Amino acid sequence: MIRIRRALPQDAAGMGLAHVSAWRSAYAGILPAHYLAGLSAVREAAAYERAISRRAHGHAAFVATIDAEDAPPGTRLPPGGLVVGFSTGGRARRPNLADGEIETLYVVDDWRDRGIGRRLLRAQAAHLRALHCRSVLVWVLAENPARWFYERLGARTVAWEEIVIAGRPVIQQAMLWERVDSLLAATAGTHG
Ligand SMILES: CC(C)(COP(=O)(O)OP(=O)(O)OC[C@H]1O[C@@H](n2cnc3c(N)ncnc32)[C@H](O)[C@@H]1OP(=O)(O)O)[C@@H](O)C(=O)NCCC(=O)NCCS
Repeated sequence: MIRIRRALPQDAAGMGLAHVSAWRSAYAGILPAHYLAGLSAVREAAAYERAISRRAHGHAAFVATIDAEDAPPGTRLPPGGLVVGFSTGGRARRPNLADGEIETLYVVDDWRDRGIGRRLLRAQAAHLRALHCRSVLVWVLAENPARWFYERLGARTVAWEEIVIAGRPVIQQAMLWERVDSLLAATAGTHG
C-alpha cells in the first residue's frame, strides 16, 4: 500500500536516496554527467533532515512510502516504510510571483505513473492553503518533461530565467496555479 504522510527526520535517509535516483534519471542529458555521478545520498539526506526539523518559512515535506508487501523481496524496510517519492514546499522563496512554492517533487522510476506525484502535490497544496497561500508556483527546468505533468494539472508558465547548475547554463520556467484551490481540485479523488 502506498501512503502519503508528513515526513519525519528518520525519513531523510530515504529521501536522500530517492533524490539521487530521481535526479540521475530526470536530468540525464540535461545536467553534466560528472555532476549527476557525484551526487551523494548522504549529503542530500543531511540537508533534508535539517529542513524537516527546522520547518522554517512554513516549510513542509511529505513522503510516499510503501510497506513490506510492495517492496522487492529481501528489502530491509525502515520503520516508517520505504520512501518511493517525496515533495517539499512552503512560502515562496521569492514572493513576487506567488505566495506558496513547491520546491521539490520526486518519484523514483519504478513507482511513477501510479498517482504518487499527484497525491504528493495535493498534500503540498493542502498544506499551503492552511498557510493562507492563495497561489502556488513551481520552478521546472524547461527541458524536463515534468513540465507537461504540471500543465496537465492546470499550471501555466509565467516566467523563464537562466540559471547555472554545475557550470552549465540551463533555462528554468516558473509554472503557476493562480488559485491553490484549482490545484486542489485538479488533484482531487486520489486518496491524498
Ligand atoms: C513528474 C513526476 C513527479 C510525476 O509523478 P508520477 O507519480 O509519475 O505522476 P502521476 O502518476 O501522479 O501522474 C498524474 C497524471 O499526470 C500524467 N503525467 C505524469 N507524468 C507526466 C509527464 N511527464 N507528462 C505528461 N503527463 C504526465 C499521468 O499520466 C497522470 O495522468 P492521468 O490523470 O490521466 O492519470 C515524476 O515523473 C518524477 O518524479 N519525475 C522526475 C523528477 C522530476 O522531474 N520532478 C519535477 C521537478 S520540478
